Amino acid sequence: MRERAIVREVGPRDGLQMVKTILPAARKLAWCRGAAEAGIRDIEVTSFVPPKVVPQFADAEEVARGAIAMGGFRPSALVPNLKGAERAFALGLPQVNYVLSASEEHNLANVRRSTEESLQDFARIVAARDERPGTRIALGGGIATAFGCTIAGAVSEARVVEIAARLAVMGADEIIVADTVGYGDPRQVRRLLTAVIAAVGPVPVACHFHDTRALGLANVTAALDAGVRAFDASLGGLGGCPFAPGATGNIGTEDTVFLLEQLGFDTGADVEKLITLRREVETWLPGERFSGAIARAGLPKTYRALANLPA
Ligand code: COA
Ligand code: ZN
Repeated sequence: MRERAIVREVGPRDGLQMVKTILPAARKLAWCRGAAEAGIRDIEVTSFVPPKVVPQFADAEEVARGAIAMGGFRPSALVPNLKGAERAFALGLPQVNYVLSASEEHNLANVRRSTEESLQDFARIVAARDERPGTRIALGGGIATAFGCTIAGAVSEARVVEIAARLAVMGADEIIVADTVGYGDPRQVRRLLTAVIAAVGPVPVACHFHDTRALGLANVTAALDAGVRAFDASLGGLGGCPFAPGATGNIGTEDTVFLLEQLGFDTGADVEKLITLRREVETWLPGERFSGAIARAGLPKTYRALANLPA
């Protein structure tokens, strides 16, 4: 049996943050359905931010409700503060991903407070989660600008490790280490992820890479070396933080699945179906730049044969 690797589709959230077209909720849900039908089991479906900050997510409740009702995958959502978490908790999403930045400057630009204040808000979110009756909601603790920041420049690795450890101790069920602006390189990824994994004990660690400088997939292989088995990706490589200067798209879902399968991992996902979905999403978002090699070149004839080899 091949080892499992998780690809979480974040296109309906990160992918849509900077696009000009406001996609109707029905299309966001069709994106989720298509991804689920292609075998993707985890989808970040929306973001609970004020509509005036990111108008794209004014329909967050509708999309989250629709995603929960759809079934067939595990929906999650991004939240920047307690208010956002309360909105997400009220709907009963199984996972809620909180975001803060290791760079003080980016944290201030993105969520208008210090990283320390964001850490304290996470403690309140954990408390609010723990008070809720019923099924426990999983909390992801996301660390943005973990590999560097377009505002501040270098970000201390010791600070990233410290934040990861604090989020884990406070009650995060997953740590998500994010290269918001595509500054990371494979050597840095291997070093930082090895340290983060050692610091957070049994809490699983995921990576969130942007392909701004074409090192996204190289960084995936470096993270695999460090022991990471879960990756955020966005269909067609859409994405980017509107509050990080120079931000561009995430690693593409199709290409990430292709890479992981070639390396012998079982993602559960079907690349051909993802490409078909991408072609459809492209027609919904005129003028947006889609990237990725597999949609352009097609799968190699050897693909299935390789994937079926025993690990
Ligand atoms: N959802 C909906 N409304 C919210 C909210 C949320 N998550 N958080 C705050 N608000 C409302 C408040 O109730 C308040 O409303 P009022 O003016 O009617 O009283 C108003 O927004 C301002 O609240 P405040 O707590 O002062 O927020 P802020 O103006 O300091 O903004 C954030 C802080 C975190 C809400 C904002 O910076 C943000 O949304 N950042 C996220 C940016 C993002 O999406 N980045 C990309 C992903 S990494
Ligand atoms: Zn991102």
